[in-house]
Amino acid sequence: MTEPTAPAADPVLAHHRRDGATGPPGGRAAVIAGIGSYVPPGVVTNQDLEKRLDTSDEWIRSRTGITTRHVVDAGTATSDLAVEAGRRALASAGEPGADAVVLATTTSDRPCPATAPDVAARLGLTGVAAFDIAAVCSGFLYGLATAAGLIAAGTAGRVLLVAADAFTTIIDPLDRGTAVIFADGAGAVVLRAGTADEPGAVGPVVLGSDGTLSDLIEVPAGGSRQRSSATAPEPGEEFFRMRGRDTYRHAVMHMLAASEEAVARAGWRLADVDRLAAHQANARILATVAERLGLPPERQLSNIETVGNTGAASIPLLLAQSAAEGRLTAGHRVLLTAFGGGLAWGATTVVWPEVKAL
Ligand code: UT7
Repeated sequence: MTEPTAPAADPVLAHHRRDGATGPPGGRAAVIAGIGSYVPPGVVTNQDLEKRLDTSDEWIRSRTGITTRHVVDAGTATSDLAVEAGRRALASAGEPGADAVVLATTTSDRPCPATAPDVAARLGLTGVAAFDIAAVCSGFLYGLATAAGLIAAGTAGRVLLVAADAFTTIIDPLDRGTAVIFADGAGAVVLRAGTADEPGAVGPVVLGSDGTLSDLIEVPAGGSRQRSSATAPEPGEEFFRMRGRDTYRHAVMHMLAASEEAVARAGWRLADVDRLAAHQANARILATVAERLGLPPERQLSNIETVGNTGAASIPLLLAQSAAEGRLTAGHRVLLTAFGGGLAWGATTVVWPEVKAL
C-alpha cells in the first residue's frame, strides 16, 4: 500500500482520485446517486420449512443464520421485483431519468428476450439501452463494472442498475440443501457520471471467474446444451442445484482475495474499511471472511437472518436496508464483495454518499 501524494482532506478519497476509479485517469467515474430495494410481502419461516422438509429451525439458523425469507407469490416474476426496486432507486436519486437499464439476474422472466427492456419500459424508459447480465450471485458487482464502463466511455450519463432474483421460482422445493437458503428480492442503484474523488464514486472493480467449476452451482436443463442433445432432461434437471460444501470453501477463498485486491487497488488499507457489505450467502461464510480481513463484527453489515440468500439482489438489498436503518451512513468506507455460480466473484469499494435509501 502506498500513501497519497496529493494533499487532500480525506486520504481515502485522495487515493481514489489518484488511482482512477472506473475508467482511464481523469475519466468519468460512476457515482451512486440513489438506491432502492424491494422484497415481496410473502414470508416463509423456518417453521414453515420444517413442515415440508427433513430439516429443523435449529439446523437452518446455526448452519446459515437464516430465520425468515421473502418469497414471491404465484404470478409474480423477477421483473415485478425489479420494477419496484428500480422505481424506488429513481425516486431516491430525485430524477426519473436514466439512459441505460442494466439488470443482473439469474431468474429472467423468459429465456428470451432479456428482462431489462421490459423493466425499462414499465419505468417509463422505453427507448434506452437495456440488457441483462448473467453472473449469478456476483451480478451486482459485474453490473457495477458494466455501468461504470458505460459511463466512462460516454455511452451513458446515467445508468439504472437493478439486481433482482426470484430464486424460489427455480429452487426444487424438496431439496433441503437449497430450499432453506435461497429467496427472492431486488435492489437497485442509479449511477451518474461524476469524478472519482466524490463520495459515492464506485472504486476499482475486481472481477474473476473459474468455469472449470461451473457444475458447483447450476441449472442443468433448459439451455442449448440440453436442448440440442437427443435425450430428454432427467426429472428435476430444470431446478437450481448447488454443491454446498465445495462452494463454501471457494466462496471464502475468492471473497477474501478479491476484497484484499479491491482495497489495495483503491489505495485503502483494510483498517480503513468501516463497513463490509458481502453477498449474504451464509452467516458463517460472512463471519469467516470478516474475521480473516480483520474486520470486527460491528463493521459487518448483515440482513441474511430476515431475507436469506437473494442472489444478485443480495448486496444492493443489504446496502439499501442498512442505509435506511442507519447502520450505513454517509462517509462510511464500504467494501463490497460477492461470490457465486460461474464460478464468478468480485469486489469493489465506495465511500458511502449522502443518499436516502427507499
Ligand atoms: O450464493 C452463492 C454461493 N453460495 C454459497 O456460498 C453457499 C455455500 N454453502 C453453504 O452455505 C453451506 O454449505 C450450506 C448451508 C449449503 C450447507 O451447510 P454445511 O454446513 O456445509 O452442511 P453440509 O452440506 O456439509 O451438510 C452437513 C449435514 C449433512 O448430513 P450428514 O452427511 O452430516 O449426515 C447434510 O445432509 O447436514 C445435512 N443437511 C441438512 N440437515 C438439515 C443439509 N441440508 C440440511 C438441512 N437441514 N436443510
